[in-house]
Amino acid sequence: MEKYIIEGGHRLHGEVEISGAKNAVVAIIPATILAKDRCVIENVPNISDVSILLHILQDLGAKVSYLGKNTVEIDTSHITEPVVPYESSRHLRASYYFLGAFLGRFNQAHVSPPGGCNFGVRPIDQHIKGFEALGASVSTDYGFIHATAEELYGSHIYLDVVSVGATINIMLAAVKAKGLTILENAAKEPHIVDLANFLNSMGADIRGAGTDVIKIHGVDVLRGTSYSIIPDQIEAGTYMTIAAAAGGDVLIKNVIPKHLESITDKLLQAGVSVTEYDDAIRIIRSKPLKKVNVKTMPHPGFPTDMQPQMTTLLAIAEGTSIVTEGVWDNRFKYVDELRRMGAHIQVDGKVAVVEGVPQLTAAPVKAVDLRAGAAVLQAALCATGISEVEDIHYIERGYEDVVEKLQKIGCSIKKVPISSPTLSQAQ
Ligand code: EPZ
Repeated sequence: MEKYIIEGGHRLHGEVEISGAKNAVVAIIPATILAKDRCVIENVPNISDVSILLHILQDLGAKVSYLGKNTVEIDTSHITEPVVPYESSRHLRASYYFLGAFLGRFNQAHVSPPGGCNFGVRPIDQHIKGFEALGASVSTDYGFIHATAEELYGSHIYLDVVSVGATINIMLAAVKAKGLTILENAAKEPHIVDLANFLNSMGADIRGAGTDVIKIHGVDVLRGTSYSIIPDQIEAGTYMTIAAAAGGDVLIKNVIPKHLESITDKLLQAGVSVTEYDDAIRIIRSKPLKKVNVKTMPHPGFPTDMQPQMTTLLAIAEGTSIVTEGVWDNRFKYVDELRRMGAHIQVDGKVAVVEGVPQLTAAPVKAVDLRAGAAVLQAALCATGISEVEDIHYIERGYEDVVEKLQKIGCSIKKVPISSPTLSQAQ
């Protein structure tokens, strides 16, 4: 077990390179099953969610080999059993994408319900509604979700809630179904478009990804492909708020600025200088931060996965900001950690009232989930004194080389075994 030791208060300068998108690659890895062939995927982030998914594929009989640090070759031709047991699925939410991918290839899937970050209830009724509309029977017993069909047929599906996971799972199941599937009220996140582009490069016929109506003409066969994952919108956004919180001048490279517009807009309102280039974004913060109100929404709204980092930024802004969580029921659990660093934040259900303070102070804190972990890390980087961050495995689920990237822009951060003394004692 390890922890981070962080000496806060350093202004940041330099460049940071953004990795491939976690929430795209966690859909694309299971999607390789549909090819029954060899796929080469580039720009794969080296994060624990990826290793878990690749291990699941290997356990299923796929051949997986790294051709470089971020390039993986996956051959799924030898997979015969469409089964993922609890021991494998419990580690991450995205294991439910094996349901759609298995259904698409084998017309059956037996997957134990997924784990993942705990933001309250995380139903999968819309995934099941989609599978059933395509002709599958879905049942749950002995801790498994079973989905089986003689044949899958295209259908007209209207999602009751905009769901990233359901949109992806229905695309995976429908891509080889007979006839046309029309998916309405679909999610529009960049990773939905990336998955559609990946599947199309395998020979699928998917149109409209990135809008709220996706049309999928089923095809008989999908083939192997080579594909490069898009840059991670949320990792980029996290470095944007870290730079804004700590202050300084940071160039964030390998990004798609269009994907970051809702975050850019809020940072500009907060008084941060944001300059967009073709594939980079520069953050300069030299003045005090100003209050901003934020409400999270499905894309292109402000992303819920940036809510903890934005709230943490507003904790040191002048004035009182209101942050409303519009996607998850319970995504303010990290606020207790921030309060121990001196933040003044009151939470009532899905609304946080953030009364800015001039400065946070160091404390021992823990990551309570992935983005909450990013938020406490950010708080520690701008607090006075030396903080310790525990439960960092949550952070490393989604941020590649986070310690090295932060050190490169001037952060004082070290990863040490849990039993180690603090940074000042260690020096
Ligand atoms: C994805 O989760 C992401 N995870 C989450 O990012 C992200 O917070 C979320 O989308 C929203 O953007 C991955 O991509 C692996 P949803 P997902 O289905 O697909 C309700 C991160 O930090 N809903 O879009 O599970 C649900 O309760 C992670 O990287 C239903 O009611 O989210 C929620 O209120 C954490 N029924 C809303 O929809 C369903 O069947 C959005 O959930 C499905 C969802």
